[in-house]
Amino acid sequence: MKLLEQVLFWVHGMSAAAWFGAIFYRTLVVDGKAFGYFDRRADYEKFSTHLAHGMRYFVTAGLLICGLSGFALVGLKWDGSSVAWLALMGAKSAVWLGACVLFTYVSWIHWPWRSLAAPEEFPKYRKQGQQLAYAMVVLSGAGFALGQACRMAVGVSG
Ligand code: HEM
Repeated sequence: MKLLEQVLFWVHGMSAAAWFGAIFYRTLVVDGKAFGYFDRRADYEKFSTHLAHGMRYFVTAGLLICGLSGFALVGLKWDGSSVAWLALMGAKSAVWLGACVLFTYVSWIHWPWRSLAAPEEFPKYRKQGQQLAYAMVVLSGAGFALGQACRMAVGVSG
């Protein structure tokens, strides 16, 4: 059981790290660099659409692996006697669910709208896209902070 727990812990941490790193780098580095690089706004929008193409499957996989391994860990490490631990698990589930809903909106609604936008709509969609991406950075960062808090709540022993 200990080995399974270690493997799940590694899978959970790695998928969370990959997801946070990708969204952080995309939002805070790549977007600004690309915006400054292209002279024509339409070229920047085309590049952004190209960059996003196919990413849906990676992000969906990352979110699912992180969430499923997290729920499996809850089953293995269950500590019903600690209210703090239960509250932190509830908060983690809410953050993860929020991230799934946000990603569904971005990928299936906002991106299709943005990729079909008229040139005069470009600034509005970029601003909204940035706000949604910052919200995702905050959600995944919150998942990390809560993960650390869980470790503290159980005394980092297990
Ligand atoms: C929002 C997405 C999530 C992120 C970014 C995330 C991140 C993390 C991280 C980084 C750790 C390890 C903490 C450390 O190394 O000290 C961790 C631990 C853990 N996470 Fe998550 N997590 C997320 C969602 C979930 C979900 C949905 C669950 C299930 C309810 C969950 C359950 C757990 C459990 C049980 C642990 C082990 C805590 C312990 O040692 O007692 N996580 N998480």
